[in-house]
Amino acid sequence: MATSAEREEQKRQAAERALERVEPGSIIGVGTGSTVAYFIDALGRHRGRIEAAVSSSEQSTARLRERGIRVVDLNSVGALNLYVDGADECDPHKRLIKGGGGALTREKILAAASRTFVCMIDAAKRVDVLGRFPLPIEVIPMARGYVARELVHRGGTPVWRDGFVTDNGNVILDVHGWRIDDPVALETELNQIAGVVCVGLFARRPADVVLIGDREMT
Ligand code: A5P
Repeated sequence: MATSAEREEQKRQAAERALERVEPGSIIGVGTGSTVAYFIDALGRHRGRIEAAVSSSEQSTARLRERGIRVVDLNSVGALNLYVDGADECDPHKRLIKGGGGALTREKILAAASRTFVCMIDAAKRVDVLGRFPLPIEVIPMARGYVARELVHRGGTPVWRDGFVTDNGNVILDVHGWRIDDPVALETELNQIAGVVCVGLFARRPADVVLIGDREMT
């Protein structure tokens, strides 16, 4: 098993590889998390490489600005060519669990609005079947109890991420205990529950490219 230092090194390598995909002068989508932090730092060292970034969180916005990168609103740009982000789990079909950092809704919007989604992970996040990592679900605060009961009916064990409020003013339920054999079907079904804002399954729109350390997953 990789040490935490080795995992960090793989994240850093994946971020460097992702940078190679950035078209000079473009506007790109930028995700959230510790792997993305390496990517933003790499972008900062090549300041001027991109025109601007569309950010998926207040956290990433702050880091981008600190490194002198202009942040623009998604509504002020057209479709993005590239979205770069991390993930919490990745299956062989490049379907993901995301949202460990709580930014899943804006991340899903940027993935949807982008032609190419490049995902950077370390090898420990590669799984055959999604579900070892608890599935984050963003929920309207008043619906927390109702949605939790609906998830229990479906065999999950939701845990309220107590004290955490998303950038959109909502709460997160982390659902334990699911082996997700059909992520597209589960994503579709959970999206129908009233009060659910976003499900941290990226299966209907998976990643296009997955970088694991310095190699590309095939
Ligand atoms: C943020 O909400 C998440 O989707 C992150 O992309 C994911 O949790 C991966 O984060 P790390 O790069 O910190 O592992």
